[in-house]
Amino acid sequence: MKWDPALSVGCEAIDNQHKELIQLVDELESVSGSGISSELLARSLKFIVNYSRHHFSAEEELMKSIGFDDLPRHKEIHNELIQKITDILLQMKDGHNPAPLELVNYFIDWVKKHVMEEDQKIGAFWRTNTSGAKYMADAEVKTKSVSERRASILPRLDKLKELFRIKLIEIDDFKAKKIGLFESIFIELGVNKISEGLSDLDHFLRNSIISSKEQSAIIASYLQKLDLEKDLESIPDIEDKLIFVRLFREHEIISEDKFVELKTRILDAI
Ligand SMILES: [Fe+2]
Repeated sequence: MKWDPALSVGCEAIDNQHKELIQLVDELESVSGSGISSELLARSLKFIVNYSRHHFSAEEELMKSIGFDDLPRHKEIHNELIQKITDILLQMKDGHNPAPLELVNYFIDWVKKHVMEEDQKIGAFWRTNTSGAKYMADAEVKTKSVSERRASILPRLDKLKELFRIKLIEIDDFKAKKIGLFESIFIELGVNKISEGLSDLDHFLRNSIISSKEQSAIIASYLQKLDLEKDLESIPDIEDKLIFVRLFREHEIISEDKFVELKTRILDAI
């Protein structure tokens, strides 16, 4: 699947996210033929969940701001995909690996159908409704700030590489400073925006700026500095709370028992 200008919904920020979504599908499709490992599949799916969540909320904001009449149904379609992928991830955690090709094809079909048919309806509606113009400007600022945040890390990394090259720092120091540099993304975003930080790291991983080992080390290093119970309290959204505690478990900072206890507490509070 390739991006085609005919797929534009008329809002540059959303179009850019669709382009990234299509690129993702493409990447997943290209590795699935050569025997995708369950670790890579889980990583890709996690990225898709985080990315889709971010993209869907931007798209839902657009629909809301232009008074799109089919918003509840469209939102439901988004939630169904997130739910489906979340279920698969949970099954994989329990050791049940789904057929990768089947899964990838499901996702590709979903994105194609959704971007080509459902999202086009938003574009058509918004082109006839001028109140979407303000949103469009705001959304572009938001997209720009994500790419600016990501781009701002690179000169700092280059400086670090230069220090190492001219032997002003040792390899171990370089490694530690690199972890600290990427960890600063999370610190600046704060606990309420951890999923944005995760999607930044996925972006750097896909562009070979960090390795998957470094990605893990960055997240673990950040989590270790947090106060799990206190920070959990400050997160308002249930889903974000669950992602938060799951991260602690995935990085083996808390035991399975503690994870189950916290998860139960979050769900009981609903
Ligand atoms: Fe959509």
